[in-house]
Amino acid sequence: MKNIPEDFQRSCYCGAMTAAHIGQSVWLAGWVQRRRDHGGLIFIDLRDREGIVQLALDPDRDPEAHKAAEEVRNEFVLAVHGVVSHRPEGTVNPKMKTGEVEVEVDRLIVLNAAKTLPFVLDEYQEIAENLRLKYRYLDLRRPAAQKNLILRHHVAQTVRNFLNENGFLEIETPVLTKSTPEGARDYLVPSRVHPGCFYALPQSPQIFKQLLMVSGFDRYYQIVRCFRDEDLRADRQPEFTQIDCEMSFIQRRDIMDIMERMIAEVLRTILDAEVSLPIQRITYAEATARFGVDNPDLRFGLELVDLSALVAESGFKLFRDAVTQKGLVKALNVKGSATFSRKELDDLTDFVKIFGAKGLAWAKVQEGGVWQSPIGKYFTADELTAIDEALDSRPGDLLLFVADTPRIANESLGRLRVHLAHKLGLINKNLFCFAWITDFPLLEWDAEAKRYVAVHHPFTAPMDEDIHLLDSHPERVRAKAYDLVLNGSEIGGGSIRNHDPGLQSRMFDLLHIGSEEAEAKFGFLVHALEYGAPPHGGIAFGLDRLVMILTGSESIRDVIAFPKTQKAACLLSSAPDRVADSQLEELSIRLSSKAKALL
Ligand code: AMO
Ligand code: AMP
Repeated sequence: MKNIPEDFQRSCYCGAMTAAHIGQSVWLAGWVQRRRDHGGLIFIDLRDREGIVQLALDPDRDPEAHKAAEEVRNEFVLAVHGVVSHRPEGTVNPKMKTGEVEVEVDRLIVLNAAKTLPFVLDEYQEIAENLRLKYRYLDLRRPAAQKNLILRHHVAQTVRNFLNENGFLEIETPVLTKSTPEGARDYLVPSRVHPGCFYALPQSPQIFKQLLMVSGFDRYYQIVRCFRDEDLRADRQPEFTQIDCEMSFIQRRDIMDIMERMIAEVLRTILDAEVSLPIQRITYAEATARFGVDNPDLRFGLELVDLSALVAESGFKLFRDAVTQKGLVKALNVKGSATFSRKELDDLTDFVKIFGAKGLAWAKVQEGGVWQSPIGKYFTADELTAIDEALDSRPGDLLLFVADTPRIANESLGRLRVHLAHKLGLINKNLFCFAWITDFPLLEWDAEAKRYVAVHHPFTAPMDEDIHLLDSHPERVRAKAYDLVLNGSEIGGGSIRNHDPGLQSRMFDLLHIGSEEAEAKFGFLVHALEYGAPPHGGIAFGLDRLVMILTGSESIRDVIAFPKTQKAACLLSSAPDRVADSQLEELSIRLSSKAKALL
C-alpha cells in the first residue's frame, strides 16, 4: 500500500478515454475490475465512476510494472502511468466506450489492497438485497448503481437551474420542528433541555413554506429531506426527498404551467425526451370513473365501463342490489382473453378481493357473441345486447364485472386493470405518460375516527364555487388541489392554500380540530394568516420517485445512496439502535417493560 506518488496528476477518468488520447502519456487511477494473465502479457480492466479502460502490461517492455501487476487482485486500488495506444488489430471491442484503446503501462502503484468482496460486482448475478445493503458502499461500485445516482444528481441540478432562472429562491427550513399534518406518523426527537418535550421531524416543509410567503419571498424552493413513519412499499421510504415549491399571487393554472415546464426540461435534459405541453388535465371524478384510481397509468387503454344503469333492473340480484344501495356495477373488457383458464380467473378473483371486492363475475364472449358465463342466465337478451354494446365486446373477449360500493368497485377494477396490463404485456416501457389530476375532493370520511379528514392537507383551499356546500355537503366540496401522475405513479402534489384566516378556521372546524388544538398545533400559521398573507399555493415532487421512473428502477432503494429496508432499518449502520442508559437519563426517558423485553 502506497500513497499517491508525488508526480501523480490524473489525466482523465478511465471511462473517458477515447481514440483522441492515442499517443498521450497519462496518469489514471481506479479499481481493478478484472485481471487476465495471458502467460506473459497481463491485462487489467481499470474502473472508475465513468467506466472501464484496459491496461496492458508487457514483461519485456516494463518488467517492474509487470511484476507489480502480478500481485494485483480484483478491487485493488491502483494508480498507473502509461501511454495510450490503439488496440492491436482484431482486439478492438466496439461494445465498449473505450474499446478502441488500451494503456501500455510503465508504472503501476498499488494504493490499496482489497479483501475478497462478500459478493461479486456482476450486473447479471442476483444478490440478496440485504447483503447488498449491508455492504452498500461496495454495491454502489456497480456501474448501474453509479449511473442511477449520477442521473439523480443531474435531475436535481436541472431542477435547480430551472427554478433559479424562474425567480425561485432556495431557502432552508428547520428539521427539528413541530408536527406537520401530511397524514403519516411523526418521527420524534426528544429534547434534553426541555424534559418531556419532543421535536417532530418534518413530514414536509408545508407550514414553513407558507410562512415564507407571508414574509414576502414570493417564490421559494428547496430540495429537502422529509420524514414519514408510514408503512413502506416499493415506492416509499421513511426519509425521502421532495422538490418543494411555493408561490404567491398565482392560481392553479400558473403553478401547473411552470411546473410542467420544469418536468419537461428534466426529461429533455436527462433523457432527450420531449414532453408535449400542456400536459393533459383530468378531473379526479373522470380519472376514477375511467381508470378506477386517481393515479392512472395512461400507457394503455383497458378503461372501466359503468354498467350500473343497464343492470339496475336486471334479474341478477347481486348487481341490482348494488345499484339500489348506491353502489356501482363496473366492468372491464379484456380483449382477446376469453382463453383464460379457470385457475387464471380464480387468481383474478383473489386479486380483487385484496381491495375489498366480494367477487369477480366474468363472461367469455364466444363465436356468434354468445356468453359463456355463470351470470349470463340472469339477463334478458336486450340487457345482454346493451352490455355488449357498452363494452364493445367481440368474440374472444373476456368481460369482468365487480358490483360494490363506488370506492371498492373502482379501486378493485382499477388495480386489476394495471395487473392485467402487466400480465398481458400491454405496457410500452419506453413511454412517459403524464397527467394532472385536478378537482380532488377536499375531505374524505374516516370511518374509524368518525370524522372528516383532509384529502391533501388541512391548508388546502376549497373551490370557490363549492364553498357554499362546506356545511351542508362537505363530502361534495372539491379542492383547489392537483397531482402530477407519471406512468401510474403520483410524482407530485400540491394545492392553493387558504390565505383567508376565516376560511382556514372553518376548515379546522370541519376537520373537528377544536380551536384549542388548532392553536396548539398550527397557531403559528393561523396567526400569520392574520398579518397580511398573500394568496399562495405550491407543490412538492417526490425526487426519489421521479428518478426511479426515469431510470426504470424497480425499487425506490435503487436510486437512494443509503436507503432503508421495508422495516425502516439501515443495515449498513444498524440504525435504529439502542443507546446508553446515561443518554436516556439525560433525555428524561425511561423504556417501558414492553420495549425492554423486545430489546
Ligand atoms: P405529498 O404528501 O403529496 O404533498 O408529497 C409530495 C410528493 O412526495 C412524494 N412522497 C414520497 N416519496 C417517497 N417516500 C414517501 N414516503 C413519500 N411520501 C410522499 C410523492 C408525493 O407526490 N406538502 C405537500 C405538498 C404541497 O402541498 O405543496 C406534500 O408533502 O411523490
Ligand atoms: P354466485 O351466483 O353467488 O355464484 O356468483 C356468481 C359470480 O359472481 C361469481 O363468479 C362470483 O365471483 C361473482 N360475484 C360475487 N360477488 C360479486 C360482486 N360483488 N361483484 C361482482 N361479482 C361478484
